[in-house]
Amino acid sequence: MKIMFIGDVAGSPGRDMVQHYLPKLKEKHRPHITIINGENAASGKGITEKIYKQFLEWGAQVVTMGNHTWDKREIFEFIDDAKNMIRPANFPEGTPGKGLKFVNLNGSEIAVINMQGRTFLPALDDPFRKMDELIEEAKKRTSIIFVDFHAEATSEKQAMGWYLDGRVSAVVGTHTHTQTADDRILPQGTAYITDVGMTGPYDSILGMEKEAVMKKFLTSLPVRFEIDTKGRTQLNGFLVTIDDKTGKATKVERILINDDHPFFG
Ligand SMILES: [Fe+2]
Ligand SMILES: [Fe+2]
Repeated sequence: MKIMFIGDVAGSPGRDMVQHYLPKLKEKHRPHITIINGENAASGKGITEKIYKQFLEWGAQVVTMGNHTWDKREIFEFIDDAKNMIRPANFPEGTPGKGLKFVNLNGSEIAVINMQGRTFLPALDDPFRKMDELIEEAKKRTSIIFVDFHAEATSEKQAMGWYLDGRVSAVVGTHTHTQTADDRILPQGTAYITDVGMTGPYDSILGMEKEAVMKKFLTSLPVRFEIDTKGRTQLNGFLVTIDDKTGKATKVERILINDDHPFFG
């Protein structure tokens, strides 16, 4: 079983990259399932129903979210019908949406979990204890469990990787928008990367216009951040191969497409 994951898709530059490269990546790597983090897909903040549906049309099976889940108000109108979208599972009880999704692939099932860290991010429920709960639920149906851990602190992400080693197939980090070169398989068989990176503006600061972010650092004045639409673009992703029987990862690979790392089909 091969799973492809595309890191935080940011605004229209990110969506254009997905539309253009997803078919090529699928042809090259032949993943059984593709998961996209879409928390920044609508102009950097949240997602719309139209974009969610486009992601599915373009070839994704699951869309994960993060701290920007609620930024577009229309999310509340379609999240209950968006069966292939999950938001961090540790939002308080009663929050709309779900954090665990089962996908059926010719008889074998895969569980996808979205969870959010609490370090330098809003205080949600304990993501570690919540993982225990969801793993127990998922294990009743499958040994293939994929986790998008949306968190800021590298230490919290590494802690989650080690905490789940041997209990899930993969823990991939999202949110910090910069791909880390620490992709690996932990000793008990869990694939891990601290951050998959971001899909969208390349000549930017985390996807935003660099001039505005620099101004913020230089002046401390209030500045409006917008997705950069002038510069070059990139796609960041992650690929994991999993033994169907054991649920353990056997191979990990980073995907990085930009002018400095061109795509070879
Ligand atoms: Fe993000
Ligand atoms: Fe985020």
